[in-house]
Amino acid sequence: MGWPVWIRDGSEVEPSLYAADFRRLGEQVDELLAAGCRVFHFDTGDGHFVPPVTIGPVVLRSIAEGIHAVGGVLDCHLMVTDPAHHFEEFAASGADSVTFHVEATDDPARVAAEARGHGLAVGVSLSPGTSPEEAATAAEAAAADLVLLMSIWPGYSGQSFMPESVGRVERLAELVSCPIQVDGGVGPSNARALRDAGASLLVAGSAIFSDPEPAGAYRRLAALVA
Ligand code: DX5
Ligand code: ZN
Repeated sequence: MGWPVWIRDGSEVEPSLYAADFRRLGEQVDELLAAGCRVFHFDTGDGHFVPPVTIGPVVLRSIAEGIHAVGGVLDCHLMVTDPAHHFEEFAASGADSVTFHVEATDDPARVAAEARGHGLAVGVSLSPGTSPEEAATAAEAAAADLVLLMSIWPGYSGQSFMPESVGRVERLAELVSCPIQVDGGVGPSNARALRDAGASLLVAGSAIFSDPEPAGAYRRLAALVA
């Protein structure tokens, strides 16, 4: 399965499960599925590439079956120093794609080939300090299915959106032909501008899960960019 078939109506809002209430994770996933959500963003941090250790395969396994049963997918953002080391376990735990950071490898083609060897779609991510040009070169080498532009420094949910990210998306859109994903501080105040700049996958953590009704927040955000 390649990325374009995951994007319905030109854009897709992806709840970032890192911001979920983990006491009620299954319930919140079910509510989002019932609201029509089919693409879920799953953030793994290793405590090395980014300061925090976040969530990993054990949590992925607990939700993958229910998501796949209705045709949903798990899009895994690996904020880790050695992404290829984790691919086999992510694939076995229900991941559909893995996105690794440009800053974590000097051989994106090799890392992408390893991911595809496990049946995973491939994303390439750039942090705010990396130029769109450098990311585009890596994405081309990897034949990436998506490029993830970070609009915060990776590591934590709930940070403020960096406004210069809109211009960075515009520049990236001139350089790559695969879908562009934006992650970090995305919400009602910037989602349309990001879509208009060329992003088609909009990751939202706190904009969805800090709402008392995450499914309602998902629906409103998805309607805003439809
Ligand atoms: C942070 C993660 C994001 C995060 C987004 O490094 O990559 O996916 O959960 O959360 P918000 O939307 O709250 O910035
Ligand atoms: Zn993320």
